[in-house]
Amino acid sequence: MHVLVTGGAGFIGSHLVAYHLERGDRVSIVDNLSTGSIKNIEPFLHNPAFQFYKADILLWDRLKEVVSQVERIYHMAAIVGVKKVLEDPRAVMATNIAATERVFRAVAEVRPDAQVTIASSSEVYGFNTKGGFSETDDIVLRSGARLRWCYAVTKLADEFLAYSFMYKSGINVVIARLFNTIGPRQRGKYGMVVPTFVRQAVNNQPLTIYGDGLQTRSFCDVRDTVVALELLASSPAANGEIVNVGNDQEISILALAALVSKRAGSSSPFVFLSCKEAYGMEIDEITHRRPILDKLHELTGFEPKWLLLDTLDNLISLERRRLETV
Ligand SMILES: NC(=O)c1ccc[n+]([C@@H]2O[C@H](COP(=O)([O-])OP(=O)(O)OC[C@H]3O[C@@H](n4cnc5c(N)ncnc54)[C@H](O)[C@@H]3O)[C@@H](O)[C@H]2O)c1
Repeated sequence: MHVLVTGGAGFIGSHLVAYHLERGDRVSIVDNLSTGSIKNIEPFLHNPAFQFYKADILLWDRLKEVVSQVERIYHMAAIVGVKKVLEDPRAVMATNIAATERVFRAVAEVRPDAQVTIASSSEVYGFNTKGGFSETDDIVLRSGARLRWCYAVTKLADEFLAYSFMYKSGINVVIARLFNTIGPRQRGKYGMVVPTFVRQAVNNQPLTIYGDGLQTRSFCDVRDTVVALELLASSPAANGEIVNVGNDQEISILALAALVSKRAGSSSPFVFLSCKEAYGMEIDEITHRRPILDKLHELTGFEPKWLLLDTLDNLISLERRRLETV
């Protein structure tokens, strides 16, 4: 099979690339390296089954040509991360929606039988205070004056684009609502908590906790995420469905900081920052966010395999190794 991964030099995209190359598939990627990195794909660059196109997906003149050659597309390219979103919401609005539309247009025109999986986000559940989210839950969005929601709006727009193209052009789409995903190659600098805590703990720096730390999250190892995405893409029953993808084990940010500290053998203090101090403006902090995974399980039989502890140990040892080589 020939697979196209947009955003394939990013965190999750590069793991999808590795997964499909290991299975013997051909993989092409397009990435402008805005948050992705050539380092993420270095191991594949000499693989004849791998092709990297460095381009902005909004302008890429070979999009239709490459789409016409592939059987499957994972559309992962987007501007991601609360810090990045607050830094330039205009770019988020302009990129995330237009990129998805361009991919769907190309598929409808030159490869309507291709299978497409798009990466939506748990952010679309918005300010819903329910905690455990299932796909049929209402979406609660807040005022446009709170800029963090612009990312959720773009991901929701992507979902509606998917349904519009399914309805009008009959294309095959799975909408994966990804919850917090963690693993090697994720960077902390755009506001992701786990790589930030790991780097701080290994470097014996204070761990920075935003708010009171009592907010809870559920973290899924990227090795599980790519398996779930592949199973969904391969499952005819998942066609046309919105499906949560994640791990339903929940942990508070304070407990996470304590766990990372303990596993890294760090005695660093915790520093509490208000959201305003952390982001330079008020944001609506989500208190609890956990996926209900019944639909994913029913469609694919998928169960997350990796425990948070294993993922953290792996990340801590990778960060130690990185420090030894700088
Ligand atoms: N990581 C998570 O926890 C998480 C959670 C929910 C949803 N998602 C979604 O999963 C997808 C992948 O996220 P990630 O964490 O790997 O982020 P990432 O930033 O590592 O990957 C995104 C990739 O897209 C590329 N990109 C951005 N704009 C582009 C453009 N105009 N043209 C070409 N390439 C472009 C970036 O360079 C990067 O390599 C995104 O769509 C994101 O919204 C991620």
